[in-house]
Amino acid sequence: MSRLDSAIRRLQAQRACLDLGASLLRELPGLVVELGLGNGRTYDHLRSILPDREIFVFEREVRAHPDCIPEASHLFLGDLRETLPAATRRLGGQVALLHSDIGTGDPEETAALTAEIAPWLVRLLRPDAIVASDQPLEHAALRPLPPPEDVRPGRYFLYRAGITTL
Ligand SMILES: C[S@@+](CC[C@H](N)C(=O)[O-])C[C@H]1O[C@@H](n2cnc3c(N)ncnc32)[C@H](O)[C@@H]1O
Repeated sequence: MSRLDSAIRRLQAQRACLDLGASLLRELPGLVVELGLGNGRTYDHLRSILPDREIFVFEREVRAHPDCIPEASHLFLGDLRETLPAATRRLGGQVALLHSDIGTGDPEETAALTAEIAPWLVRLLRPDAIVASDQPLEHAALRPLPPPEDVRPGRYFLYRAGITTL
């Protein structure tokens, strides 16, 4: 498979997981969180499929398309290792859908970051919340969900939060 094919499949998997996550939210009130604004593609998608939800974004450095930058009140700017612990005071237990897309191109660095933030990420979640992630997440409070039909297992990851997330 060419790198172009692989990039396209990754984006298709990402969109399919966000769409499935959003559809699973219908009976679940709560906030939406995006970890990793990047150029704003998935943030823009989330706000288009979930227009009535409040969305908070976490990003180290904003470099998104100008149309895809959240208001300052909905942006946690800085390193996730610092902003996630601080955010639990404000958003803890209230998030119904969390999308984590924090890959930097260095797999080892991204895996280490994912493991480090997982305990803070789960503190944001309400019971039954959905998590979509570009990285596998291992935490006792997260139960893996099967990916959408057309997404190869291991390409993108979906989880449901158990009742004990704190
Ligand atoms: C793959 S990009 C996100 C792409 C984005 N979801 C989109 O669709 O355009 C990953 C983002 O995660 C951010 N990121 C990576 N490590 C971070 C950290 N430790 N703290 C805050 N942001 C981080 C990077 O700055 C980058 O913008």
